[in-house]
Amino acid sequence: MTLILGIESSCDETAAAVVEDGRIAHSNIVASQDELHVKYGGVVPEIASRAHLERIYPVVSEAIQQANIKLNEIDAIAVGNRPGLIGSLLVGVASAKALAWSLEKPLITVDHVIAHLWAPHLSGSEVTYPALGVVVSGGHTSLLLLQDPYTAECLGKTIDDAAGEAFDKAASILGLGWPGGGRIDKAASDGSPIHKLPRPKTKGERPDFSFSGLKTALLYGVRGNPVRRDGKNVFPRNSTDLNYQEICDWAASFQHAAVDSIMHGIQHALDHNNVRCVVAGGGVLANTLLRKQLEATASGYNIPIHLPDFKFCVDNAAMIAGLGYHLFEIGHRDQLNITASSKGIAS
Ligand code: KG4
Ligand code: ZN
Repeated sequence: MTLILGIESSCDETAAAVVEDGRIAHSNIVASQDELHVKYGGVVPEIASRAHLERIYPVVSEAIQQANIKLNEIDAIAVGNRPGLIGSLLVGVASAKALAWSLEKPLITVDHVIAHLWAPHLSGSEVTYPALGVVVSGGHTSLLLLQDPYTAECLGKTIDDAAGEAFDKAASILGLGWPGGGRIDKAASDGSPIHKLPRPKTKGERPDFSFSGLKTALLYGVRGNPVRRDGKNVFPRNSTDLNYQEICDWAASFQHAAVDSIMHGIQHALDHNNVRCVVAGGGVLANTLLRKQLEATASGYNIPIHLPDFKFCVDNAAMIAGLGYHLFEIGHRDQLNITASSKGIAS
């Protein structure tokens, strides 16, 4: 039995987990910072890194306690060291190094985006390779061709906003609050996609994504075209002029357009690559419509789809420990001079 302690601090979740053999999470502690960033409507990097500093020690201690083990019973420490907010990543990396040095245990660094695609393994999925990896989160929208759990080639990605970011902005336009993905999903379940919104497709051969035009179309649809008043451009309407049903119909229309765009890229990737399955991860995989459409598409192509459980969709350290286990098993080790990087391996 191999026990890996995973540490994650790439954005605004401070997380630690203890995972056995890459698959059984004995603990999975996630301290969200939502309450610190909500008034800014998005993550403020400086606030995030300071909060990681305060939380990392209690979060790691809780992960060890909940797993009911002693710290020196772990076999290695895995940490997400890329991509992400550099100040945030450094807190996790420095903590992991300190633990590795003091416990004399191996240190393994992991790419956060590729780790999202380990998440389905934590619920028993057996992924076969080559696989199409679909990462849809608050920071990333990427299609990866995976030859094994860690060898990834980027087939396509967003050229502007990430899909989760677009959901967050759409929720803010509709006055639903932040973070917005779950709120749009819930409102959409009470609405109908009656408004026509664009399904942006990028030109060219790659299955890239673009969400900023969709967001602008929603803004103008909800608030009208800006008019000139007292020398300023102002919107004729406000989201507060909408009743509950109207908000839900706009949420459903946005969600359909965003999910259609994601699915279009996935179908393009499946048409041009020979893969044995689809494996997906990231916060937006909590979306009801996206999960349904992914299942339907994979079944149309006659290949299995591996989706993460809801608790492993958003940022967590179990996925870091899981992928760390795979790297540990194939002999991967990092030195204590390793650092963090804002850029990912393949995203
Ligand atoms: O994976 P994650 O924790 O962050 C990054 O690694 O970037 O994903 C967070 C994102 C947020 O943008 C949030 O709005 C979105 O996932 N999200 C959803 C849903 N639940 C969370 N988006 C659409 N539908 C949902 N149900
Ligand atoms: Zn993430």
